[in-house]
Amino acid sequence: MIFSSLVAWTALLSGVNGLAIRQSTPVWLTLPATPELPSPINTKTTLINGVQLWMQKYNEKANATPIVMDHGGLGYSAYFGSVISRLVAKGHYVIAVDRRGHGRSTFNANDVFTYDQMALDIHAQLAAAGVTKYNVVGWSDGAMTTLAALINRTTAKPIKKAFIFGGAATAAQSNATFGDTAIFAEFVSRCRTEYAQLQPTGNFSVFANKVGTMEATLPQITDAQLGTIDGSKVIIVGAEHEEAINLDVPAKLHAAIKGSKIQILPGVSHFAPLQNPDQFAAAVESFF
Ligand SMILES: *[C@@H]1O[C@H](CO)[C@@H](O)[C@H](O)[C@H]1NC(C)=O
Ligand SMILES: *[C@@H]1O[C@H](CO)[C@@H](O)[C@H](O)[C@H]1NC(C)=O
Ligand SMILES: *[C@@H]1O[C@H](CO)[C@@H](O)[C@H](O)[C@H]1NC(C)=O
Repeated sequence: MIFSSLVAWTALLSGVNGLAIRQSTPVWLTLPATPELPSPINTKTTLINGVQLWMQKYNEKANATPIVMDHGGLGYSAYFGSVISRLVAKGHYVIAVDRRGHGRSTFNANDVFTYDQMALDIHAQLAAAGVTKYNVVGWSDGAMTTLAALINRTTAKPIKKAFIFGGAATAAQSNATFGDTAIFAEFVSRCRTEYAQLQPTGNFSVFANKVGTMEATLPQITDAQLGTIDGSKVIIVGAEHEEAINLDVPAKLHAAIKGSKIQILPGVSHFAPLQNPDQFAAAVESFF
């Protein structure tokens, strides 16, 4: 109640002082500008599983274990840009990827998007790039993709550790009201604009429809499958104000993945990597 009046009050002042709004709206209700990836940003893609996939290595080091950053649905690697910049500045070997259809990576008209397919894509893409072991940070659809990778013995093998943020094991664990939130509308509209810039000949509606269908029906990972994951590799990370995934999900994943760690990031929502990249990067560093 108190909070909604604060929002109404700040909205009233919006014409008068935009800065005051930005300062008084809690960060977890905001979608900060999409960050830049550290430059230079290559434009090279590689043919993998019938599509052209994009990736970028930063601070590549022989024999080091890279941190692969697997972004959320509809967005792309740059949504992790502020976190990546911080990790790169600290000298970590980081790999940014754009999943099938996202960012600079392509999809085929007859594709049916699945988390399993995306897990196979990343597995093959990293293998083709000579990466034989990696740590991974999965956010939202990137977290579901990572869970899909972890329940398959072959794709799990090169994964040393996995940081699962804003993930779920089933489509039913998505928050039913997320689609009604202002932040979701802003996010989708922004993704449409960015897609037009990244893929001038692409069709965002067709792409978004494939992502939406996947999210509405998948994943369908059982507790028995989660139970096969080596929990010592995994941290389940939630957000205090998570609005996309039901609030009870991190504890459920943590319980099903025996031996996993759990951490809830305070003061942020599903968009934590944009809202508080310092906190997010610190959590990533401390787990890896
Ligand atoms: C597991 O991954 C391997 C290697 O990519 C793939 O060939 C296989 O079909 C996957 N298994 C399942 C059950 O998805
Ligand atoms: C995108 O595809 C949809 C569905 O096939 C079509 O209706 C729409 O006209 C296309 N948009 C563009 C810009 O080509
Ligand atoms: C869904 O998100 C809203 C915030 O948008 C929150 O108030 C609600 O508790 C969440 N529902 C569940 C089941 O977690």
